[in-house]
This record gives sequence, C-alpha cells and structure tokens, in this order.
Amino acid sequence: MLSGRMPGFARDSLGAAVFAARPVSELLAEAGVATPTYIYDLDGIRSGARELLATLPAPHAVAYAVKANSAASIVRTLASEGTGADVVSGAELELALLCGVPSDRIVMSGVGKSDHEIELAIVAGIRGIQVESVEEIARVSARARALNRRARVALRVNPNVLIDSHAHIATGHDAAKFGIPLADLDAAWQRIDAEPDTLVGVGISSHVGSNMGTTEAYAASGEVLCDVARARLAHGKTLEYVNFGGGFGIDGGTGSVAAPREFAQVARELLTRHGLEQLSLGVEPGRSMVGPYGLLVASVIQPKVGRGRRWIMIDAGMNDLIRPALYGALHRIEPLERPPSEGAWRVVGPVCESSDDFGEHPLGDRPPEQVAIRDTGAYGFVMASEYNGRGLPNEVFVEGGRVVKVSRSSGSKGWLERRLQA
Ligand code: LLP
Repeated sequence: MLSGRMPGFARDSLGAAVFAARPVSELLAEAGVATPTYIYDLDGIRSGARELLATLPAPHAVAYAVKANSAASIVRTLASEGTGADVVSGAELELALLCGVPSDRIVMSGVGKSDHEIELAIVAGIRGIQVESVEEIARVSARARALNRRARVALRVNPNVLIDSHAHIATGHDAAKFGIPLADLDAAWQRIDAEPDTLVGVGISSHVGSNMGTTEAYAASGEVLCDVARARLAHGKTLEYVNFGGGFGIDGGTGSVAAPREFAQVARELLTRHGLEQLSLGVEPGRSMVGPYGLLVASVIQPKVGRGRRWIMIDAGMNDLIRPALYGALHRIEPLERPPSEGAWRVVGPVCESSDDFGEHPLGDRPPEQVAIRDTGAYGFVMASEYNGRGLPNEVFVEGGRVVKVSRSSGSKGWLERRLQA
C-alpha cells in the first residue's frame, strides 16, 4: 500500500496518515495508548544523523543538543550513530552518559551552571565545559582545585550577531545573557592561563540562536569564531576545537529552509578558509535532528461553531505543546483519516488560556476524529507540563516498522496524587 519506505510523515494510497512507514492509527493501537500521544520515528532520526555525519569529515564532533528531546530511546539511537551530546544541566549530563555517549564527546553549555553540575562535568572528564562568563571561569577553577583535577574549558563567545528568528530564541546578540562578549575575551583567556593547575583551554564555542532558516547569521558568527581561534593560536596557545553551535531550522511546510548539511558545509568552509582545518569542527544541533521525526496525535473533542467562526477543540493543549503559545509557532495540523482539504478551522486546546491556540488549519468541512500535529519531535514533550490538572502526554517510539517502546503518562490521576501531597 505504501509507495516506498519514507521516514517521518506521509499518506497511504487511501489518504490516511502514515508515520515511520505505518498507519498512525495502527501504531496507536499497537502501543495501546489513547491521545494525546507523541510518536517518534527512530529510523528517521537515525538516517538524518547519518546524513549530517557524512557531511562533516573527521575530525568532527556532532553534539546532539539533548534539551530538544531527552528521551533515552532517542539519545541512545543517536549515540549509536556516533554523535556526542550538548548538555545544559547535570541531569542531562548523567542521562547522556547512561545512554552511552562517551564523555569525550560531551560538551556542557549554560549560563548558570551550579557548583554541583560543574563538579559532575569535571569528574566525568567531558570534552569541554563551555564557560559563559569570566566569573564562571573562577568558579570552575575553584571546583577543579577542590577535586584536585584539571577542567577542560572552552569559551562560549557572544559574537554579537542577531539572527532572523523569534526574539525568545535569539541568543547571540549583545543584549543576550549568553556567551562572553568580545570585549571580555582577553580577560577570559588570561584568567584561564593564570590557573594552569586547574584549567586547560581546549576550545571555542558559540550558539547564536534557534530555528534559523538561512545560513547567513551562522556564517557571520562563524567568521568571528575563526578570528578568535586564530588570535589564540597566534599567541602560541593550543586549541582542540571550534564549535559553531546549533540552530539549524526545520521546514514546517512554509517554504525553503537551509538543510543541516548546508550549515555544516558553512562551518567546514570557514575552518578551511581560515587555515584552521587541523582543529576539530563541532556543531550542536537539536531541533533539526529530531523535530521532523515526531508527531503529536490528538483527538477531536468537539467542534464549536458560531459568530461566523468555527473552532475545533482537541485533547492536546498548550501544556502538551507550548511552542505556538510561546513563540507563535505554526505546526501543520492535518486530519488523521484523510488528507487536508478546503475548509479552515481554528484548532484550540482545552486549557484555560487564550494562547492555547494552534492556529487555523485546513481540516475540511466535516470535523475529523483525530488530528496529527506535525514536526513536533523537538521542544514538544520536553517542554510539556501538567497545567490545569492534565497529565503529561504519552510517548511511542517506532523502529523497523514496530513499536519498540511506550512511555505511558500517569495521566490526571498521577497529577491528582502529587498535588494532594503538596
Ligand atoms: N546549543 C546551545 C547552547 C543551545 O542553547 C541550543 C538551544 C542548541 C545548541 C540547540 O539549538 P537547536 O539546534 O535545537 O536550534 N524551545 C525553543 C528552542 C530553544 C533552544 C534553546 N537552545 C523552541 O521550541 O523553538
């Protein structure tokens, strides 16, 4: 019935939604879960990772930004393909290690790492603690001294580049809290060089923001990074890596978005042009590695028609997928049982907030029974909450055409038990 093995979302010959090469309704039945449920295509994730790794020649380091989706099944799948991990907390670090990511492929970012988190990173001997301020360098040194170890640190540079994306996810401009401003870099290196017993400077990193549609800002920040690297080497110091960051956008159906391999090529060309090809090239993408390979399935509760408007209430809300409410993101929503067709409905969730609104979608004249919310593999479940007494959504993992893992929500019952204890 299917025309070839397609990763991600497709339609079968009868028009029903297919995901990871299986009809979605069948996957839900096999998993034995109701809605709302996230479904992930592990084969799709695997093939996307392979394509990116093939673009970057060794020495390279693709560190998957675990925050995008921290499900162990996903982190393990990526680790088995040879990616490292970019973590932003002690818990993410422990998860990455438990999922088989070698410590020398893990980098840690974050503007407010606690002493405990810094100690975990030092003890694990990760590839680089990417420090974000001169003040933090002093704290890393103090923790290393207390542990009688040497910490491997990299400077996260703020290149003062503003990306064309939502303001909430732009991180590389002057006013952002992230990274070390260019004016403070000398002081930062001096601080590292002054503590050779506890610190070794191994790299430079940057991350200018998320969901970039073009490679321009990435190239601009990369130029700055290469200048910083060259200046460091010109001082007779050594460096192991330049990490160009993540932020590769995904095409949510609105038009053309640069592919992950194009961002990787930009980084590669920069290193070559600056004569830095002996350094390891790092990237740390999250969204592009998992976003297209996740689907949120919801059931229609009821339509509501009046005052010249028509809404469809679904059983997934902003607590399950907050991106539309937080960033005005528009994720395609389609009927499960048939392709989209003329006839727009405003799709909203049950949460008592006006921002619990997924936008207008072509669901046809007759309301469908179930809908698929597309490209929700990144920043979906990981940002979910139990607001309004709603449980967390279920998660289903598909590999080789089979459901290989189901993570069931404790539902509103679990919520009730926990709130009664507070
Ligand atoms: N590296 C660092 C240091 C980061 O802070 C991030 C994301 C990444 C890498 C991965 O970026 P990506 O390739 O996924 O764009 N919740 C927002 C996105 C927040 C991104 C935070 N940092 C959203 O749903 O759009």
